[in-house]
Amino acid sequence: MESHEYYEVAWQCRSNLLKQLASDNDNDIKQTLLSFTKFERTHALRIFLAKSVNKSTGAEYIVSEKAEFYETPDKKQPRPVSLNGLSKLWHGPNRADKVTPQEIPAYILSGLINQNEYDCVMELGCGFARRLFETFYQTKNNSIQYFGGEITKSGQNLSDMLSDMETEINFSSFQYDHMNPKPPEIGNCQNILIFTCHSIEQVPNLPDDFFEKLCGFAKNITVVHFEPFGFQARTNTVSAKNHQYVADKEKYNQNLYPLIERAHQSKLINLKWVSLNLFRLDRNNPTSVIIWEKRSD
Ligand SMILES: C[S@@+](CC[C@H](N)C(=O)[O-])C[C@H]1O[C@@H](n2cnc3c(N)ncnc32)[C@H](O)[C@@H]1O
Repeated sequence: MESHEYYEVAWQCRSNLLKQLASDNDNDIKQTLLSFTKFERTHALRIFLAKSVNKSTGAEYIVSEKAEFYETPDKKQPRPVSLNGLSKLWHGPNRADKVTPQEIPAYILSGLINQNEYDCVMELGCGFARRLFETFYQTKNNSIQYFGGEITKSGQNLSDMLSDMETEINFSSFQYDHMNPKPPEIGNCQNILIFTCHSIEQVPNLPDDFFEKLCGFAKNITVVHFEPFGFQARTNTVSAKNHQYVADKEKYNQNLYPLIERAHQSKLINLKWVSLNLFRLDRNNPTSVIIWEKRSD
């Protein structure tokens, strides 16, 4: 099953759950997302997709699809991670807090937003944009625009539904594919903070010109990747080999880090910060973080 076919059904199924949770929480989206995170600790999603092949064209098509949640043992609240090393990133006071893995993306992004003058924040491969909403609640900054790019229609629809319920956020969704990155209509935005979280993971190999295309999105861009690329950067440890095995089996991305290194060496971008295997959203697929900026010279 192609990754986006899986997610098309997955976000549709989660939209019914999120509608229910929103109603239980009086349409308070911040509380709804907290309830969703709690629900995920004890439930997983199972998807059945039956396909057939058109005999004359050879094209595959979906005959039936079904998705359901099933109960799992309580994964419990994961242990908080210490973010001491992050102090190098902030120009201000040391933020040596401990944060749970689910909270880390919004924590790092809000730190960057609070210290820089971004016009907008954009997530690429955002699903239903939970990370953008979480960042918005963390920063409480409603003067910047939030853009959520996603390949599935169901993910875009769900993020639109949440933004209709949250009147404070200035949010727009747009159709986006990592295999052919194109920016949405961003008006006068000149300084953009872009991020990805486990969505490049879903693309076995990014196209060679991925970073050139991203750099064309605006005059100034800063990009944060929360992606499982640790095994691509440090290859010869036992844990890197185990991680490589998982990535091969799941057809996860193999070339994010080599492409970033090449873009840095060719002076297209400047690497600002790298932390390998910083936290785990998935047990066998640790998340690394890399921050880079487009070079303006
Ligand atoms: C693991 S989910 C992560 C969603 C979101 N970033 C988050 O952290 O909640 C992976 C997402 O990548 C999206 N995706 C898969 N292939 C993609 C592609 N070629 N371009 C953009 N997004 C893609 C999926 O539809 C899904 O929404």
